[in-house]
Amino acid sequence: MTIHYEVVSEDNIYCIKDLCNGLMAYQKSKAKIHPEFFDNMNFETRMLPALKSSKENYIIAAKDKDETIGYAYSTIASKYTYSGGFATLQCDAFFDFDSVKTEDVGCLSQFFIKDDYRGKGIGSQMFRMSMDWLNSFKDIKDIFIFVSNGNDDALNFYLNKGFKISHEILDGFITVLRNS
Ligand SMILES: CC(C)(COP(=O)(O)OP(=O)(O)OC[C@H]1O[C@@H](n2cnc3c(N)ncnc32)[C@H](O)[C@@H]1OP(=O)(O)O)[C@@H](O)C(=O)NCCC(=O)NCCS
Repeated sequence: MTIHYEVVSEDNIYCIKDLCNGLMAYQKSKAKIHPEFFDNMNFETRMLPALKSSKENYIIAAKDKDETIGYAYSTIASKYTYSGGFATLQCDAFFDFDSVKTEDVGCLSQFFIKDDYRGKGIGSQMFRMSMDWLNSFKDIKDIFIFVSNGNDDALNFYLNKGFKISHEILDGFITVLRNS
């Protein structure tokens, strides 16, 4: 198995449609609090609007030969317009706007690797690439990651990478992680 990584252009975004929908189904399967929130979350309601509303987008795909087996989607967006990427759920994603010094923030917004390919270091590689991209914006100090309830594997993955739990939103539906 030789995995290679490619940046996905917005013209070619449909190549990750099935993986994005797989991520929503996976998160729903793990959730104990409001799993039904995921029912209207899919590629069309989450990925396409987020691409439009964010100031910068970075999508990296992992490929095994011609098959796309994972992707990570990062954004730079205004903290004021940011809705956590949760489609129709408008929420104040940031508990304390004043603690976020800059208007724009970074976010690792979506991250999914097909089942058979997990636990082999591919996620760590894509996480590094995503952080390198986010950290290349010198004005951006704050990076956030949103983990839905019940997804303890992902939560621990990010804690092991140095992220800290910041707060919960939507009655515990989402745990917000922050880089500092
Ligand atoms: C979360 C995810 C992106 C991590 O990617 P990955 O390729 O599986 O992670 P890695 O192989 O790089 O593993 C990183 C660490 O997590 C551990 N780990 C990963 N998956 C694991 C699993 N299923 N069980 C136990 N440990 C696991 C690895 O042992 C490794 O630990 P180490 O750094 O101490 O060696 C991937 O598992 C995934 O797509 N999960 C389903 C979707 C999801 O939860 N997305 C996140 C939404 S916020």
